[in-house]
Amino acid sequence: MFHFASLSQVGESMRMPMRYLLDNAANGIRLIDACVRHGVGRFVLSSTAALFNLDSAEPIPEDAPIDPQSAYGDSKWMLERALRWAGQVHGLRFACLRYFNAAGSDPAGRLGEDHRPESHLIPLVIDAALGRRPALDVYGDDYPTEDGTCIRDYVHVSDLASAHLLALEALDRGAVIWNLGNGTGHSVRQVIASVEHVSGLKVPYQVVARRAGDASVLVASSTRAQQAGWQPAHGDLDDIVATAFAWRKAHPNGYGD
Ligand SMILES: NC(=O)c1ccc[n+]([C@@H]2O[C@H](COP(=O)([O-])OP(=O)(O)OC[C@H]3O[C@@H](n4cnc5c(N)ncnc54)[C@H](O)[C@@H]3O)[C@@H](O)[C@H]2O)c1
Repeated sequence: MFHFASLSQVGESMRMPMRYLLDNAANGIRLIDACVRHGVGRFVLSSTAALFNLDSAEPIPEDAPIDPQSAYGDSKWMLERALRWAGQVHGLRFACLRYFNAAGSDPAGRLGEDHRPESHLIPLVIDAALGRRPALDVYGDDYPTEDGTCIRDYVHVSDLASAHLLALEALDRGAVIWNLGNGTGHSVRQVIASVEHVSGLKVPYQVVARRAGDASVLVASSTRAQQAGWQPAHGDLDDIVATAFAWRKAHPNGYGD
């Protein structure tokens, strides 16, 4: 079982925590239970960097303290814990893959990113560059980072896909808990610069107030996945942005076409 379905917005989860706990945690636990009862032996969970509450420049390893600051993050932690019980008592083999910032589009151009409403930085920056939305809001430039904007670890969706295949092999040797990122952080201003570089367009943006709950830096240490043979092929930010930009240009209305 690959379990990707989820409500997935941190901010929304702070307005509707019960919705997140019911849809993500309660329904997810029912799904795990159904797998146990019907002999589904392997379970791979889309987990998240939102389990962590660290604000350090150091890449975050898997055994860093878990302290989710949102109902979204906590709902994934509840599922990770349910999987541990299902593994310990019922022998379910499982993987918890904690994606940092999933980004980019299928390099072959078949699949792209189209959230509604869009909440992810790279598609928002691209749409601002293409004039498809007003100037981008940058939430704060007074964080303790070099340019004052938040730093995140952007990891290409194709690299996440390859990590899932490796995890499927690895979970036969024991529980898999992997943080998945490139181990390199990029600030919001660096993402804007990358979109301008890749597209040749100017990105209109304005700095607005900080958003509640945003850590200044979130970067993954993915040593465990690397030890299992994971080698991201699209670690370069311009490469990630180029795939996202190509898909958006080819599909200006996303999947609405
Ligand atoms: N995008 C990221 O950066 C990121 C980072 C960490 C973890 N994740 C996790 O990865 C997974 C995929 O993320 P995404 O960015 O594609 O999110 P997404 O919001 O685009 O897709 C999740 C989909 O799940 C569906 N869904 C929600 N509850 C459902 C339910 N009860 N039954 C059936 N479908 C349901 C939603 O309608 C949505 O289409 C999610 O589990 C998310 O929490 C994503």
